[in-house]
Amino acid sequence: MAAQGRIVWVSGPAVRADGMSEAKMYETVTVGDSKLVGEVIRLTGDVAFIQVYESTSGLKPGEPVIGTGNPLSVLLGPGIIGQLYDGIQRPLRALSEASGSFIGRGITTTPVDMAKKYHFVPSVSNGDEVAAGNVIGVVQETDLIEHSIMVPPDHKGGKISNLVSEGDYDLETVLATTEGEGETVELKMYHRWPVRKPRPYKNRYDPTVPLLTGQRVIDTFFPIAKGGTGSIPGAFGTGKTVTLHQIAKWADSQVVVYIGCGERGNEMTEVLVEFPHLKDPRSGKPLMDRTVLVANTSNMPVAAREASIYTGVTIAEYYRDMGKDVVLVADSTSRWAEALREMSGRLEEMPAEEGYPSYLASRLAEFYERAGRVRAAGSPDRDGSVTLIGAVSPSGGDFTEPVTTHTMRFIKTFWALDAKLAYSRHYPSINWMNSYSGYLADIAKWWGENINEDWLSLRSEVYGVLQREDTLKEIVRLLGPEALPDEEKLILEVARMVKIGLLQQNSFDDVDTYCSPEKQYKLMKLLVDFYKKGQQAIKEGTPLADIRAMKSITTLLKARMDVKDDEMPKLDQLDADMQEEFKSITGVKVSN
Ligand SMILES: Nc1ncnc2c1ncn2[C@@H]1O[C@H](COP(=O)(O)OP(=O)(O)OP(=O)(O)O)[C@@H](O)[C@H]1O
Ligand SMILES: [Mg+2]
Repeated sequence: MAAQGRIVWVSGPAVRADGMSEAKMYETVTVGDSKLVGEVIRLTGDVAFIQVYESTSGLKPGEPVIGTGNPLSVLLGPGIIGQLYDGIQRPLRALSEASGSFIGRGITTTPVDMAKKYHFVPSVSNGDEVAAGNVIGVVQETDLIEHSIMVPPDHKGGKISNLVSEGDYDLETVLATTEGEGETVELKMYHRWPVRKPRPYKNRYDPTVPLLTGQRVIDTFFPIAKGGTGSIPGAFGTGKTVTLHQIAKWADSQVVVYIGCGERGNEMTEVLVEFPHLKDPRSGKPLMDRTVLVANTSNMPVAAREASIYTGVTIAEYYRDMGKDVVLVADSTSRWAEALREMSGRLEEMPAEEGYPSYLASRLAEFYERAGRVRAAGSPDRDGSVTLIGAVSPSGGDFTEPVTTHTMRFIKTFWALDAKLAYSRHYPSINWMNSYSGYLADIAKWWGENINEDWLSLRSEVYGVLQREDTLKEIVRLLGPEALPDEEKLILEVARMVKIGLLQQNSFDDVDTYCSPEKQYKLMKLLVDFYKKGQQAIKEGTPLADIRAMKSITTLLKARMDVKDDEMPKLDQLDADMQEEFKSITGVKVSN
């Protein structure tokens, strides 16, 4: 029986209702006369605490609260791609059409157009046994996405009958039924799945394949793996959003879920205005043909922000189950944590550090645990991945605050943005001394096999230069650069070149915005060669000034912008010119 209670107390997005003994934890309920969507988040006796996903202004004690019997779920089927949702998968465009520019309350819309027809091509036959996760056919969702229609994960399995033939059907058409254990179940193009429950899979792989983002400081220095987890903390204005946009545009994934979580409305507007005009760099098709946006800006109901993360990750897992690589970026998880804190405060829970609830860490863990590269359930075999990347906005850039420190426990790649670098216009302002990647060893094999076997050793070499510069900087600060011998001055010079020619990358430059792995490797190799040749030259007595005056330095530093990905021979030429120049400067010395 559905719970039927009465509101006894309203505080912002939190509502208390009594008479709710039939309700279950995390059950969705309709709240008040205007039937707002809410979710039971605590039950004590017959009193339910409910978080309401819509504005509660005007809601009064005495109004009814009615259970739906279902947990908070998303609808999973064709039509999701290209949508802009709020935190509980209500399509914002359709909502604003239904209620004008302000989102009305209690409006019910379906997350996708249920009447839209898709061309279904079955891949099973009547009489086939199917199990949970099996693919029964495909539809073309967008130009870029072939969408597998799967037997829902909680299906008990059975024999296919009443299968429709290939043709155009809408989402409510029964495509087939299954018979099993005396039960007939209808299969449609869509099913629902509760957002707080990870979708099951067969097995999980080690994260050995890099997620290439085309951003050098990420791919070459602090890589993330497909199915991995990453965090990008940074103070106000240090480049979190720009970096996440770059990942959304360029990462080699088939689907992107972009969660705009509690950021200012105008930041989200940028995404909304910009993304529909962007083209997928690989196919030339609109980027939205493979992107889902989930938006909960700071002026939208705070409880829906809490839900947005789960809505997003469940959609991501659904496309993963089709065998796709999915990237989810969340901007920013700090705003999500603040929503959690606000709800907790309203419920008068005992606060832990900085007012956050004591379950902040476990919630973060639950979220990041949903990343992974997996073999999907059911047949045929499909391997897919969900990579989770969250921005963190610690106020004042203080990385010791709870959201940053707890996040660090659960993620493996940490891109620490640095206000000083951003201030000096070194972008991306990812600090190479404070950042790390736990995937380096795992993905080195991929680089070795696909790009060059000396990738890891070159990377260590370049990173070593940056580390040595970091120690030398202290001496320079105390005694001035002249205190250093030429070999060490050379290190400072090479570190400068690495920063300008490799680490810095301008997102707004047509060429520099994306860098292929081949080009990343070659630039790195040129820098290491320069360093080695320079060391040799100094050993043989060439003055550092002659090395510093080399013309190829300028060419090398500009190569990231001047050499397009399909112009690799230009880098070979640069290499040859550099060798010649070294010969001539060291040659001068010999002839003396
Ligand atoms: N890779 C980059 N290339 C060029 N410019 C960049 C890059 N990264 C950041 N910037 C510059 O820094 C500005 C601020 O970046 P961004 O909006 O991403 O910061 P944020 O950390 O998201 O800020 P907030 O805390 O306000 O959300 C950008 O508008 C841009 O001018
Ligand atoms: Mg931002």
